[in-house]
Amino acid sequence: MSSFQIIVGSMLGGSEYVAEACEETLTALGHQVEIHLQPEFEQILIENQNWLICTSTHGAGDYPDNIQAFVSDLEKSDQDLSSIKFLTIGIGDSSYDTFCYAAKKINTLLNSKGCTELLPLTTLDMSQEIDPEECAQLWLNENKDHL
Ligand SMILES: Cc1cc2nc3c(=O)[nH]c(=O)nc-3n(C[C@H](O)[C@H](O)[C@H](O)COP(=O)(O)O)c2cc1C
Repeated sequence: MSSFQIIVGSMLGGSEYVAEACEETLTALGHQVEIHLQPEFEQILIENQNWLICTSTHGAGDYPDNIQAFVSDLEKSDQDLSSIKFLTIGIGDSSYDTFCYAAKKINTLLNSKGCTELLPLTTLDMSQEIDPEECAQLWLNENKDHL
């Protein structure tokens, strides 16, 4: 069993639903889960944790407003983050050139900080007729042995 901190980046609420679906699945898999809709870096920073980043992209490839301070603190941090393991779900729309750019940027940032990527980033394209919550749950269940 692992402890997960779900870090949500959302402007319109869609990524929140995806995050809550992930919380449900991770809990059912026996993990401890805490969800952060207004993530604060210092509060979330606990050693030996798994982070699930669940973020949409807005503007022209920008982070949602509610996650910008978290990302800025992460960028500036000189703390040892090597005990953090993470996975990233990007929610976006492939009609934008900057498809899921926020998720891709934070995934790269976490790798550059020495964190361990548990699974390659996955993206959910909201321009397709998909059920994003179900897709995210399926992804976690299919990869449960890596969590
Ligand atoms: C003003 C605006 C800008 C957007 N820019 C991007 C973008 O650059 N890349 C992308 O993949 N999706 C983009 N999207 C699509 C959103 O990421 C998508 O609608 C997502 O489901 C919103 O999630 P949220 O409800 O959690 O904010 C944009 C949507 C809006 C309304």
